[in-house]
Amino acid sequence: MNRREFGVALVGGVAAARAQGRRAGGPEGQRAAPLAAARSVNGSRLNGRLAELSKYGANPQGGVSRVAYSDFDKAARPVVMDWMKQAGLTVSIDYAGNIFGRKPGSDASLKPLVFGSHIDSVPEGGNYDGNLGSLAAIEVAQVLAERSTTLRHSIEVVVWANEEGGLYGSRAVSGQLTAAELKNVSASKKTIEEGIAFIGGDPTRLQQMIRKKGDIAGYFELHIEQGGILEQTKTDVGIVEGIVGIKQWDVTITGFQNHAGTTPMDQRHDAMLSAARFTEMVNRVVRSVAGRQVGTVGRIQAFPGAPNVIPGKVVCSLELRDLDDKKILSMYDTIMKEAKAIGNMNGTTFAYAELHTNVSAPSDPRMRSVIAESAKALNLSTRLMPSGAGHDAQSMAQLGPMGMIFIPSVGGISHSPKEFSKPEDCVNGANVLMGAVLGADKL
Ligand code: GLV
Ligand code: MN
Ligand code: MN
Repeated sequence: MNRREFGVALVGGVAAARAQGRRAGGPEGQRAAPLAAARSVNGSRLNGRLAELSKYGANPQGGVSRVAYSDFDKAARPVVMDWMKQAGLTVSIDYAGNIFGRKPGSDASLKPLVFGSHIDSVPEGGNYDGNLGSLAAIEVAQVLAERSTTLRHSIEVVVWANEEGGLYGSRAVSGQLTAAELKNVSASKKTIEEGIAFIGGDPTRLQQMIRKKGDIAGYFELHIEQGGILEQTKTDVGIVEGIVGIKQWDVTITGFQNHAGTTPMDQRHDAMLSAARFTEMVNRVVRSVAGRQVGTVGRIQAFPGAPNVIPGKVVCSLELRDLDDKKILSMYDTIMKEAKAIGNMNGTTFAYAELHTNVSAPSDPRMRSVIAESAKALNLSTRLMPSGAGHDAQSMAQLGPMGMIFIPSVGGISHSPKEFSKPEDCVNGANVLMGAVLGADKL
């Protein structure tokens, strides 16, 4: 789908209404219809804003390249802040660069209900990952304001900073971000601390913004599934049961730099050869045990990087994911042992520097229930499912009950310009979010 088609497809109000009419056609649907109407977001506004946001960092392949702390990221943020203001929210940027839009509730003794997502992308990303959840959260707030509905809880709509780099904004709020990580280099080439300052935060004051367990009444995030299960099973909505833990490392392989023409093949300490064996070994180790765990070497650089030089150094990444954090550590142990053996074969060494950790997080049964009830009232089918992708929701699960809503990703594609979710599914997701927020307000 090219950019023009994307814009046309996103004017989804009519399609969404049609889809809703189809689903609400049976007797059960007719009973659900008045409630569904009361919960409806403005589908054309939501999809129109998705199209508008996709212009910031638009890449030629039809998606966005809007990595955190880049010029495009910085340019998109005021646009989203404006929409938050239109939704009647009081907008501010916290020390980590997260954008918050707040509205007080009627009962000042209650902790806030928080919902949102992120607008930064991976390099060569798509138009939905994070954007849908951010704009749907604003849409819910705007519809509540238009209907002059004040909830018991105050609401906080949030657009997290640097989700894709490793949940930096949300981990700053949950107190999981370490001082050492501020020196990590982000995809924008700025360090995390430079990046935070670039988008209006203050990296020297992160300690002052940490929230503790019980500081929020609940957190919701709507997101595209980023896999193919909902589409394959023809299910409208996924209710997330838990989010995988993720650990990432920089792996430095050191050999000996030498002449590629004069050094015999049996006398080389070739760091690149070890990196190739390492990559194959990671895949083998991760596949050698039963389960849904995954492992990836996604980035690699050889030094000095010339056709006629045997690389003396290679730096690559290692990422491991599973719902069970202990399983991640056990795979890491095996990988380190096997890497040592690989190094012994050609006189190279392996060193590991941890980049970041996202701890796995189950969702809260009460939040799953309000999501399920919301979907049921809209006559949408649901299934409980794990999230193989990381989300800021896992940081928020440290502070209060968390729930996540998935909608189908066409072809299961994500982290790609080809990422696409149908406009009617985006609207369904936003409506489910709205119902879930209203449901959680009653808890
Ligand atoms: C975030 O999208 C992740 O799963 O890496
Ligand atoms: Mn995301
Ligand atoms: Mn992502």
